[in-house]
Amino acid sequence: MRISVPTETAPREQRVALPPDSAGRLIKSGLEVAVQRGAGQRAGFRDDAYTSVGAQLVADAREALSTGQVVVKVQPPSSDEIGLLSAGSSLISLMRPGQHQDVATALAKRNVSALALELVPRITRAQSMDVLSSQSTVAGYKAVLLGAAELGKFLPMLTTAAGNISPARVFVVGAGVSGLQAIATARRLGGVVSAFDVRPAAREQVQSLGATFVATELVSNSAETAGGYARAQTNEEQERTLAAIAGHIKDVDLVITTAQIPGRPAPRLITTDMIRTMRAGAVIVDLAVETGGNCELSKVGETVHAHDVTIMGPVNLPSSVAFHASQMFGRNILALLQHLVKDGAMVLDPADEITGAMLVVHNGKVLK
Ligand code: NAI
Repeated sequence: MRISVPTETAPREQRVALPPDSAGRLIKSGLEVAVQRGAGQRAGFRDDAYTSVGAQLVADAREALSTGQVVVKVQPPSSDEIGLLSAGSSLISLMRPGQHQDVATALAKRNVSALALELVPRITRAQSMDVLSSQSTVAGYKAVLLGAAELGKFLPMLTTAAGNISPARVFVVGAGVSGLQAIATARRLGGVVSAFDVRPAAREQVQSLGATFVATELVSNSAETAGGYARAQTNEEQERTLAAIAGHIKDVDLVITTAQIPGRPAPRLITTDMIRTMRAGAVIVDLAVETGGNCELSKVGETVHAHDVTIMGPVNLPSSVAFHASQMFGRNILALLQHLVKDGAMVLDPADEITGAMLVVHNGKVLK
């Protein structure tokens, strides 16, 4: 069975879905891997790194997309790409399910089965396949670097002949996957880190990373759903959260916000009134900007200056750390394919807990 890896065509996408190390593992297990020439180049993987693990190089997108029984991609397919996929093949990529029904309909028309990487269930067995988590780890790390670069201050404490410098104060709002990595990164850079989340499990994780947990009294056992995500807060809870954040944010230099409720707009946790009270020169990096933003003033893909505070709304940060983001993405794909391929053939069983959750198009039908 042939797995194909086309070059990503979305603007500013530098990652590749399957780097040479994961391609090599699939080839060793008896599968064929075909990679479009140059597909890994922007992530730092040359064509010869693929050929050295036994992958074949194909000339262009047409050949990559039309000859694979399984096509693996990072970004959702464009309509041109869908037009090149062969009937009966399977596509594995991010799909933005629910947002782009036209993609699902076009795939169904071509009789291509599609698995949406966003829908990997958050269960222990599927953790190694979860690209949202691996890519959020990258985003949490990069968000701190971006914010630190924008800040007119050092993060660490310094003792120098020119006097002592006190460490910057970093506040992370939302301590899930990206938030915890942001905390760890800010700590490594020497910042004094505090964090807030509504889930009790997050409190222990924040503290184990050496950060202070803000407003412990607001954490509630009922804040976490069975799926491990947070539920939306009630109006009263939201008000208490806003009051706690308002009390804390006045004295911090760098804020990283990552709060999300899956399937809903991001909770609005930093208001313009709060920004007015912040230190001059403070920086906010809003990772949730694409789902509406945790900060009232953030704008998708832009840097806004207001009330002496810089508010950044970066998109697709994983692409800016393309080598390691691709490596982690590829290992997720490898684990998923090891789950899906039996005796050298793809087995798409809708009754399987993982496959069923991810399958958005199958047998010519849109399933979700
Ligand atoms: P996650 O689900 O692991 O973490 C989100 C956290 O927010 C959870 O711990 C949850 O309990 C917490 N939360 C929910 N409501 C809250 C509230 N009212 N107050 C405080 N905490 C609250 O999500 P993950 O993977 O860390 O992603 C976070 C955000 O970053 C998402 O919006 C995601 O789309 C975005 N993201 C952005 C990227 C970019 O390049 N801009 C790249 C990757 C992710």
